[in-house]
Amino acid sequence: MTMNSDQKNGVKTVPGQISVAYDHVDKSYDGQNLVVRDLCLAVQRGEFLTLLGPSGSGKTTSLMMLAGFENPTRGRIYLNGVPVETVPPEKRNIGFVFQNYALFPHMNVAENIAFPLRYRGIKGAAARQKVDEALAMVRLSGLHGRKPAQLSGGQQQRVALARALVFDPQLVLMDEPLGALDKQLREQMQFEIKQIHARLGVTFVYVTHDQSEALTLSDRIAVFHDGRIEQIATPTALYDQPQTAFVARFIGENNFFEVTVTAATAPPADSVGIAGQAHFYRVTTQDGASLVAWSHHVMAAGSKAILAIRPERLEFAASAAPSATHNYIRATLEKSFFLGDHLRLQFAVFGPESLIVKAPPHLAVPAMGQSLTLTAPMAAWQIFPPTQNTQKTGVA
Ligand SMILES: Nc1ncnc2c1ncn2[C@@H]1O[C@H](COP(=O)(O)OP(=O)(O)OP(=O)(O)O)[C@@H](O)[C@H]1O
Ligand SMILES: [Mg+2]
Repeated sequence: MTMNSDQKNGVKTVPGQISVAYDHVDKSYDGQNLVVRDLCLAVQRGEFLTLLGPSGSGKTTSLMMLAGFENPTRGRIYLNGVPVETVPPEKRNIGFVFQNYALFPHMNVAENIAFPLRYRGIKGAAARQKVDEALAMVRLSGLHGRKPAQLSGGQQQRVALARALVFDPQLVLMDEPLGALDKQLREQMQFEIKQIHARLGVTFVYVTHDQSEALTLSDRIAVFHDGRIEQIATPTALYDQPQTAFVARFIGENNFFEVTVTAATAPPADSVGIAGQAHFYRVTTQDGASLVAWSHHVMAAGSKAILAIRPERLEFAASAAPSATHNYIRATLEKSFFLGDHLRLQFAVFGPESLIVKAPPHLAVPAMGQSLTLTAPMAAWQIFPPTQNTQKTGVA
């Protein structure tokens, strides 16, 4: 399901397939500014969906409304086809790991994990068994008696995870659960969360502003920008075919250039692999070079556009022979950085602009100042309309 079909048709709530549905949800805290705007989103049962976006884009607010700690200003949210406002938060059967979440410091590990069970009236041997199972799942068996202060950051995070899963929730919400951990531990925990998701088949809605974490974990990613979903798609589709310049900037690395659209042109022979409708255009760079690029958008001749090319798509070309399938550009090597797994080369190109190329690490680096030819297939060159003004709309 794409953002477009969700947004155009509203959300269809089919119990049994859709776990969560936001139907035209707006949220304002102050009655003036919308921090979530017209959110339409359907999460499939068993899906791992990530909300990704910059700070303040409305991710936590969207989770809080689902959990029942905030109410939508407009619109509805459904859980298994039932509007949530008819279900109190404690009856929603949702497991949480909150942003900056802390365990109860005075309780030991077992008591922390058993807390949601006690709340649901599960006690004694049944509760002990559940706690043991949850501890085993996060690989902390035997640490029942430790206090949170006696655990490492990663262990505390695993206790929080066990606590969210111990009562067999139908849905697990996690808000930046790994934000406080160092890179290595974060990657290890990502792997464990992915395994637990695969094993339990529970629906996950996960929040992060770390794009590599989102790409690693998710079935689909919803990119938030200023209270709206810019694009919702699989990790591969988001990376290879961003719908907007914002997504192209936010996911992965991109080189951007200002260009002018000259004319529409026929698709090149090797343009297959671009999903959805692609329009091809001849464009002119600031220094007059002519290239072919594609877009999801219809662009008028003479209009300004933003051209994006990923650093890893560019290669050295032996010659700049005209081609029906590739663009060639002249570029002057300015700097080179060795980063272990790749070489980062900086070129002067298109007049005042510079361009980054990621090359294999043991490539023989050409001399600085040398003029070279770079190439990439036309499907790698994408253009977007210039970014629109994103003004806040008030609540009517
Ligand atoms: N309780 C609140 N009262 C008033 N404004 C709030 C409240 N909570 C959040 N906001 C505002 O709503 C907007 C969205 O906040 P939210 O916490 O949803 O963002 P976020 O995407 O989770 O950001 P982050 O990545 O920093 O956690 C922000 O402008 C924030 O200042
Ligand atoms: Mg947040």
